[in-house]
Amino acid sequence: MTASLTEPAYAKLNLTLDVLGRRADGFHDLRMVMQSVSLHDDIVLTLTEEPGVRLTTNFSFLPTDGKNLAVMAARAFQQATGVDVGGLRIRVDKHIPVCAGTAGGSSDAAAVLRGLNRLFETGLTPEQLAKIGEGVGSDVPYCVLGGTALAEGRGERLTRLPALPDCAIVMCKPSFSVSTPELFHRIDSFKLRCHPDTAGMLKTLEGGSLQGVAHRLYNVFEDVLPLQQGNAIREIRQSLIESGALGACLSGTGPTVFGLFGTEEEARQAAAVLSPAYRDTYVVRPVS
Ligand code: C5P
Repeated sequence: MTASLTEPAYAKLNLTLDVLGRRADGFHDLRMVMQSVSLHDDIVLTLTEEPGVRLTTNFSFLPTDGKNLAVMAARAFQQATGVDVGGLRIRVDKHIPVCAGTAGGSSDAAAVLRGLNRLFETGLTPEQLAKIGEGVGSDVPYCVLGGTALAEGRGERLTRLPALPDCAIVMCKPSFSVSTPELFHRIDSFKLRCHPDTAGMLKTLEGGSLQGVAHRLYNVFEDVLPLQQGNAIREIRQSLIESGALGACLSGTGPTVFGLFGTEEEARQAAAVLSPAYRDTYVVRPVS
């Protein structure tokens, strides 16, 4: 058995996000096309003599106890498999911004599940690990699988999709944060005027047209954000488009906005325009 390993935890973007309705359990039925990108945290799992699960991280404001999704994932793995993880140290080296709409915490949890499966040689399939992740958070099952996928239901019904054509992506997160539960609550009293063309997006991915994907990016939460935050999002999107993005969109419940570019050079120039005002600006690539 290996005593220590490192697992990457990739950020995700929403190529589409649709909310279909509120469910009896208080969650919402969603339909989303998800994409992993190269910006990632590193999860280092180490077996130690000291009993219990301990977490350390370079982001000092994050919880390190059972409220951290990575710790929750280790406990869920233990419960589902019956494996005693014994003394386990989880080191979370964060690079993905927190509360950004890019599934940083969920991706860390998914990496813990994948990593423990390797560390303890439990031989679970990605689908079995995704099932364990369901109880940890709605985005965790997708993050276990990664790549390009359609997520439905609460987020746990997953269908793999053809990979997003290679491109350069600029991600930009304004400094304000949004509350995901609050935005889901707001959307209940909203009459959504517009929905993404999810079927069209699936067809376009099959055809492999980056331009087609870029034209179909859409997230219903753009309409739901309070005015001031919505304006900030629109400003970033406008800047990306003026810098040559083929399309740009909000990810998750935000506030990260991203734009798709045909070339790395254009993406770097677009990022250079945004980065003086927005520290959390990155040029990334899709991960399949
Ligand atoms: O599952 P997770 O803890 O990541 O969800 C965070 C919040 O997002 C939930 O408390 C809920 O308010 C909202 N949510 C939802 N429907 C989903 C996923 C999340 O209402 N399918």
